[in-house]
Amino acid sequence: MTNDLKAARGRMIVALDLPDIDVARAMVARLGDSVSFYKIGYQLAYAGGLPLVGELADAGKQVFVDLKLHDIGNTVASGVASLSKLGATFLTVHAYPQTMQAAVDARAHGTKILAVTVLTSYDDDNLAAAGFRLAVADLVMHRAEQARDIGIDGLVCSPLEATSLRGLVGPDISLVTPGIRPAGSAADDQKRIMTPARAITAGADYLVVGRPVIGADDPRAAADMIVAEIAAA
Ligand code: C5P
Repeated sequence: MTNDLKAARGRMIVALDLPDIDVARAMVARLGDSVSFYKIGYQLAYAGGLPLVGELADAGKQVFVDLKLHDIGNTVASGVASLSKLGATFLTVHAYPQTMQAAVDARAHGTKILAVTVLTSYDDDNLAAAGFRLAVADLVMHRAEQARDIGIDGLVCSPLEATSLRGLVGPDISLVTPGIRPAGSAADDQKRIMTPARAITAGADYLVVGRPVIGADDPRAAADMIVAEIAAA
């Protein structure tokens, strides 16, 4: 594998949105060398999937634990301390100042903290209904600024926000973008989507891809195509 392809592969994070650890292990085996970075979220983690974090790390893979923590600072800190021991590369929290500060202070063992600015399922009306007075675009920038000042390692954002966020936070904060769909593939329930090449060009460091890979007839070929597209961008 060329260095370019290896670097591109390291920027694709495949979401293991699967019902249990055995199904997830089978998918990882099927994907083999075509994927080097995985994401474990609510579905798999709460079905007993967390031991897979250590298994994947021991196998030389990187793991993103996407549990979007948010609680009182003390509870966030103890959660981050426990999860850091699993060997994850990335761990998510919601972008509230106390939550981000507690997570940044408690991070350990090389685990980096990503903040979710505003969930991509929220629009301006949803925010107003939840009691927020800012529009989505303004709240994203407000929270990103706070995240940067707290010393966050990265942000989870829509690829459509990547360019403006990059301008705000500079080069050292990782931008991780879901909502990725290769040209011609189904949008599913994602609304604000971009192709892998366009997301990279917009400034994303890492792309999170779920169904276009794990739901493909040939997941390995689907992963290889996305990696090739990242490398070409
Ligand atoms: O299957 P698909 O590619 O849509 O999966 C995207 C993954 O990224 C899912 O695991 C989803 O939970 C996650 N995600 C997202 N939008 C966010 C944050 C996380 O789609 N704003």
